[in-house]
Amino acid sequence: MADESPRRIRLDALAYGGDYNPDQWAEHIWLDDARLMREAGVNLVSLPVFSWPQLEPEPGVYDWGWLDRVIEVLWGAGIRIDLATATATPPSWLIRSHPEMLPWNEDGQRLEFGSRQAYCPSSPVWREHVGRMTRAIAERYGEHPALALWHVSNEYGDHVSRCWCPESSAHFRRWLEARYGDLDGLNEAWGVNVWGQRYVAWEHIEAPRRATGPVNPTQLLDFERFSSDALLELFQLEVDVLREVTPDIAVTTNFMSLLRDLDYWDFAAAEDLVTDDAYPDPADANAHVPAALNYGLMRSLKGGRPWLLLEQAASAVSWRDVNVPKAPGQMRVDSLQAIAHGSDGAMFFQWRQAKYGQEKFHSAMLGHRGEASRSFQETKAFGAELARLAPVRGTRVRASVALVVDWDSWWGSSATESLPSQRLDWLTQARAWNAAFFALGQPVDTVRATGPFDGYDVVVVPNLYVSDAAQAGALADFVARGGQLVVGPFSGVVDATEKVHDGGAPGPLRELLGIEVDEQWPVPDGVSESVEFVPAGLAGLGTLAGARYSTGVWSEWLEVHEGTEVLASYASGELAGRAAITRRPAASADSAASAAGGAWYVSAVLEPAGTVELFREVLAAAGLPARDALDTDLEAVTRSDETTDFTFVLNHGRRELVVDVPTGAAELLTGETTTGRLTLPRFGVAVLATPRAAIAPFITLSDTTD
Ligand code: GLA
Repeated sequence: MADESPRRIRLDALAYGGDYNPDQWAEHIWLDDARLMREAGVNLVSLPVFSWPQLEPEPGVYDWGWLDRVIEVLWGAGIRIDLATATATPPSWLIRSHPEMLPWNEDGQRLEFGSRQAYCPSSPVWREHVGRMTRAIAERYGEHPALALWHVSNEYGDHVSRCWCPESSAHFRRWLEARYGDLDGLNEAWGVNVWGQRYVAWEHIEAPRRATGPVNPTQLLDFERFSSDALLELFQLEVDVLREVTPDIAVTTNFMSLLRDLDYWDFAAAEDLVTDDAYPDPADANAHVPAALNYGLMRSLKGGRPWLLLEQAASAVSWRDVNVPKAPGQMRVDSLQAIAHGSDGAMFFQWRQAKYGQEKFHSAMLGHRGEASRSFQETKAFGAELARLAPVRGTRVRASVALVVDWDSWWGSSATESLPSQRLDWLTQARAWNAAFFALGQPVDTVRATGPFDGYDVVVVPNLYVSDAAQAGALADFVARGGQLVVGPFSGVVDATEKVHDGGAPGPLRELLGIEVDEQWPVPDGVSESVEFVPAGLAGLGTLAGARYSTGVWSEWLEVHEGTEVLASYASGELAGRAAITRRPAASADSAASAAGGAWYVSAVLEPAGTVELFREVLAAAGLPARDALDTDLEAVTRSDETTDFTFVLNHGRRELVVDVPTGAAELLTGETTTGRLTLPRFGVAVLATPRAAIAPFITLSDTTD
């Protein structure tokens, strides 16, 4: 999606710093903080995210003094501010005078004060006060030279992303009225003749609280859309105030990576800078693989423009059941991974480790042991190193593969219990497909199902349950232009009102894919079936020819149109002998380009190795390189400007890796020049600068390793 926003963060370096909660500390400590921040290379801090009660202790009585002073201390040390509007959590006095603004859960229980985010997104009282507080902060600090960026609220939807209170129901009704016009339109859209759901008055419609049995799926899907929109309205309300008071200051709200509950395409369109909070689990040796997809989403939300990692942990978090610290070097490689993927900096939650409260066991840049703490030593060393990466600021990631992220399909395929199977999970499917490209050495951007697909050779659609003709048309154009399109199971099933497309799946994708789904055929729990690729000589398959892979979770009874190639068939179970994976060559062979395009359909959920080998074939068809030796500890991503390719080579593991790299490249972190082979120690990273080439450098393991 194109990004038109002219506003940029006011910072002339890669951002480094973190959330700062000075109101948890005595003022004399602030001076120490500023000194240590300088030592650590900090140039940006986020505050005062949760400080509304400290800024407005009583209704209408503001206490700006402490914030004025801390901003002066920081600015005196040359540190800029990502200034929060402090609306992430309401003060107790507001809640006690308006208990109706507390959110309700699905069972109709009101959630109590005592944590944070204790508000219903639709509450008029809350909205009014949010607008007032935002304006007050904007008017007070909008002219301050330290102000680099507005930080609206905090992690929308983190604790409360859906509310089932009466106010939300009323808002839901207004939203439905705007969408469907009248009750006839709503009744038609919701297919109310099933199980007697017809509505005769708007006020009879409620948010879908827990009911006697499975709830109308279209009502559920609309509630997902509405709930995302309700939070978006709340965000937009603040954005409007900020744009009015400070038209030149960039606005952000921190995202939570690939999050189900909010349509980030819509949120990103409302802001100037995409920021993300990322907490890969140090206990998971492969956490960097889904992280790559999260970062691919972040850079893609504004058409490839740099984004910013606004929060990560210096070491352990405190909200998992078991919170393992980051091993020495792990914070560094994690940070560099985000930068490799287009983040113009690396920030933390938080600067100083809390002494009390819910997050006292959460690591910080400055740990409980202060300057002596390992986290301070490591973050300080990394801050110094970051200066060497100044040339990558503003550059863009080069990716040839894009993965379609479609929130409607995610919601539709998960909001209801009335599905062929509960086991086909949108996120699992998206992550599995990303993981295969990760193993093959290709970074993945994300894209909407309607594109734009320019610049991509491969577009993959892990699932497009909810689909329409516009998406099908855009995808067909991509294939006609020579692209390789891969579509996953249970796609093209329903329209926007969750009605099954005429003739069944894949609905609007039928001609493009050249197949029909007669029945979805989920695989029972604990059962594993298999698919077998056609022998060598048929369909021109490479190493995949004749290979057999296990599948679980899902299969489909396919009918194959003439002209569609069967690449693999089910080799066991009831569907044995029937097509499982197909490819339809581009419809028109008018031009050389269209002759090469292909629309692949994968009706099964393959074991990981099968997906990797299938995608190797897809990359070959697109003329893109793939790694022979697979090692998911190795990642290489290139950011470029007009003249230079900056290739980040990352070792995410604890074993040494030896990789082949271009000879004569300048390595930015050490200042050395490469000689063609590079040894990356555990968690080691190299950033290679080479003249911009037509194709980004493709990094592989050297033959010396296996
Ligand atoms: C989120 C929040 C922060 C903090 C961290 C802890 O990212 O935005 O306020 O609670 O989690 O990991």
